[in-house]
Amino acid sequence: MTEQHLNVVDHPLIQHKLTLMREKDTSTAVFRQLLREISQLLAYEVTRGLPMTTKRIETPMMEMDAPTLDGKKLALISILRAGNGLLDGVLELIPSARVGFVGLYRDEETLQPVQYYFKAPDALEDRLVIAVDPMLATGNSSVAAIDLLKKAGATNIRFLCLLAAPEGVATMKAAHPDVPIVTAALDEKLNDVGYIMPGLGDAGDRMFGTK
Ligand code: URA
Repeated sequence: MTEQHLNVVDHPLIQHKLTLMREKDTSTAVFRQLLREISQLLAYEVTRGLPMTTKRIETPMMEMDAPTLDGKKLALISILRAGNGLLDGVLELIPSARVGFVGLYRDEETLQPVQYYFKAPDALEDRLVIAVDPMLATGNSSVAAIDLLKKAGATNIRFLCLLAAPEGVATMKAAHPDVPIVTAALDEKLNDVGYIMPGLGDAGDRMFGTK
């Protein structure tokens, strides 16, 4: 696992908020608010190194060549449904981003992810594409989502999550070594039914108040 492939953002604010999110008695409202805050902090990291250019502007004092983002608007892709929790916060920081959605379910017989929805912005090949899903667990759905994005033309993809399991990171690295992963924490392992340990439970249920 090279550092370039996996970036665990070890920032005090992120780690403090993540601990509050992990606690089982944290309410849905607080969980959602914390996720929004952490996603903004993670967005800062996942957008590091974006191409820049300059534009000529006039400050009240004088003219200058000031830095500004270059290239086409980036694409945020939410892997449904829990991805929407990360998406909201990232969009607040990058309001002009284009947005897409990937919906996958697990076939109970083959245990493989099956696509039920896919909608992505145009010209994916010209954009930085950031796929978001809070939990990188087995990695199967993340790999399938990235497969779909590549098939749709994406060549420059980053993956943003809140928690990752070593198994999921390994699966992603084997299938998509060109896709860097940014996460708030790398947990110990998966349990028998694919939940991240110690984790925070089912991210979708916790953010939407379902069981
Ligand atoms: N999805 C979740 O929401 N939680 C896990 O622990 C694993 C996958």
